[in-house]
Amino acid sequence: MPTYAVRAPLARWLAEEAARAHADLGPYRLLDVGCGQKPYEPLFAPYASAYVGVDPAPNPRAELEGSVEELPVEDAAYDVAICIQVFEHCDDPARAVSELARVTAAGGRVLVSTHGVMAYHPSPADYWRWTHTGLEKLFRDNADWASVRVTPASGTTACLGMIASLYLDLAARRAHAGILARPLVAAINSVASAVDRRSAQLREPGPGTLFANFHVVAERPA
Ligand SMILES: C[S@@+](CC[C@H](N)C(=O)[O-])C[C@H]1O[C@@H](n2cnc3c(N)ncnc32)[C@H](O)[C@@H]1O
Repeated sequence: MPTYAVRAPLARWLAEEAARAHADLGPYRLLDVGCGQKPYEPLFAPYASAYVGVDPAPNPRAELEGSVEELPVEDAAYDVAICIQVFEHCDDPARAVSELARVTAAGGRVLVSTHGVMAYHPSPADYWRWTHTGLEKLFRDNADWASVRVTPASGTTACLGMIASLYLDLAARRAHAGILARPLVAAINSVASAVDRRSAQLREPGPGTLFANFHVVAERPA
């Protein structure tokens, strides 16, 4: 998969956070903002007492219709709000942060993931990319949090490998030979992960690094 550097760490992180939220909060009410097809619902299902999806356009998988900037939800109605690969598409990320905080109960948490580097992909728009410091500032400036933690999903080599893989896959598919790119993309993914594992300088945020995706955990004050 060309977007392995985003998707594999995202699934691992959400599985860990789903269990950690249950250990800290017990069964929780969860709001999935910009839910799309709700691909992560199975990770939360064992722990959530309610799982509600919201999307801005009519979506048979979403219980509610509305945007992250104006959620059709009461204050503090959920213990956990997730917003996965949505921030890059929303008009007003500052408003999105304050809305996510508003709908999350005291002691609850918000989980966001969004891109550092990615090809343009409107859904329906595509406006923003982030650095780890930019995302942390966005959260701290727009709501009151007990803690905000921003971590890169994968390393610099994985990010470079993802960009190469995306265009390799595209070129192969245009030549009606998509299947031929698969072993090459798999090899790039595994070499890139191995290189990043060997170097903290490629994994940890610092000058010269490049990250495909970031994970944010923002906890509301108790
Ligand atoms: C890349 S998809 C991600 C879907 C899902 N969260 C996932 O990870 O598979 C982007 C989603 O964001 C939604 N979206 C776009 N703009 C939005 C906004 N302003 N507020 C809430 N959702 C938005 C789209 O309808 C779409 O479902």
